[in-house]
Amino acid sequence: MNSTAREDVVAVLGYGNQGAAHALNLRDSGRHVIVGAREGRGAEARAKAALFEVFTPAEAAARAGVIAMLVPDEAVPQAWPAVGEAMGAGTCVVFAHGFNLLYGALPIRPDADVVLVAPTGPGRVLRQVYERGEGLPAYLAVHQDGSGTAWKRAEDYAEWLGCARARLWRTTVREETEVDLFGEQAVLCGGMNELVTAAWETLTAAGYSPEIAYLECVHQLKFLADLLHERGVPGLRQGISGTALYGDVSRGARVIGPASRAAMTAMLEEIRSGSFARELAAEVAAGRPTIQRELARAAAHPMEGARRRALGLEKLA
Ligand SMILES: NC(=O)c1ccc[n+]([C@@H]2O[C@H](COP(=O)([O-])OP(=O)(O)OC[C@H]3O[C@@H](n4cnc5c(N)ncnc54)[C@H](OP(=O)(O)O)[C@@H]3O)[C@@H](O)[C@H]2O)c1
Repeated sequence: MNSTAREDVVAVLGYGNQGAAHALNLRDSGRHVIVGAREGRGAEARAKAALFEVFTPAEAAARAGVIAMLVPDEAVPQAWPAVGEAMGAGTCVVFAHGFNLLYGALPIRPDADVVLVAPTGPGRVLRQVYERGEGLPAYLAVHQDGSGTAWKRAEDYAEWLGCARARLWRTTVREETEVDLFGEQAVLCGGMNELVTAAWETLTAAGYSPEIAYLECVHQLKFLADLLHERGVPGLRQGISGTALYGDVSRGARVIGPASRAAMTAMLEEIRSGSFARELAAEVAAGRPTIQRELARAAAHPMEGARRRALGLEKLA
């Protein structure tokens, strides 16, 4: 490492989805970036291949004035103690999601700044948008203001990431965490995956071709999601046929009826009470049995074979 003062070094801990994009964007914005990664694992090799200096997470934390904590949320409780003990006075710790700040009760020295800078998209997109000279919007929050300048340090970090080229939204750790968890459970992951699977199973149980059911109920989702992304619900409705529009306005509320809305309210309450976070911690402690079982079930589901055949990835049976 050259003679850069500690306060001007940024340590990115975790070189995965977010970590790689943060490290590359920060370096291209002129920061002195080092990477903290476990020895002998994939992240260490990937960071070295991108010509970063790599240390253990604790060593990297000790050398930096800003630490970006970008290991997976479920690994933070185990990874944090060594990092928290190693970091120096006045360090700014950046998280990209508030989960462990809201639920984790991490011991953090009182003179540190602890901020949230959460880009609104995956690392791959964060990097691509930066390379185009644009930025992804980001949520900013202050969890602990040891220096009295934590908001400024969060904004500086967002600027180096490229996010200040777009809009920065000030929020709280609680709001970012609860809304993020709800969005992925109700819509983006849980709701979407269950919806397309149920629709595909309904059609194939009625005797329709598995491949055509896949193309209609799963594959085309992207085109409509792109319209929604670009134009919102009213704009999407201007871009579909009259038949599709009447089916939409007359049938959609039957799919997401009172039972689904009640389930959403119950899920939100589990998030707000912390019971979802406790359930996840128990799942991780038990070796992730639910996650492993459901991943295996989805991989073996006949819809996956239909997908491969429908997209020409394997021969029709
Ligand atoms: N994914 C997204 O789209 C997204 C979007 C916004 C915010 N975030 C947030 O960004 C943070 C990082 O998530 P991610 O999706 O980028 O994680 P990830 O892709 O799963 O990767 C994290 C990296 O951390 C390393 N790692 C795992 N356990 C570790 C440990 N105990 N100590 C040190 N390193 C460890 C892994 O490398 P090795 O196994 O090789 O060591 C891996 O490269 C999370 O807070 C997440 O909520 C993610």
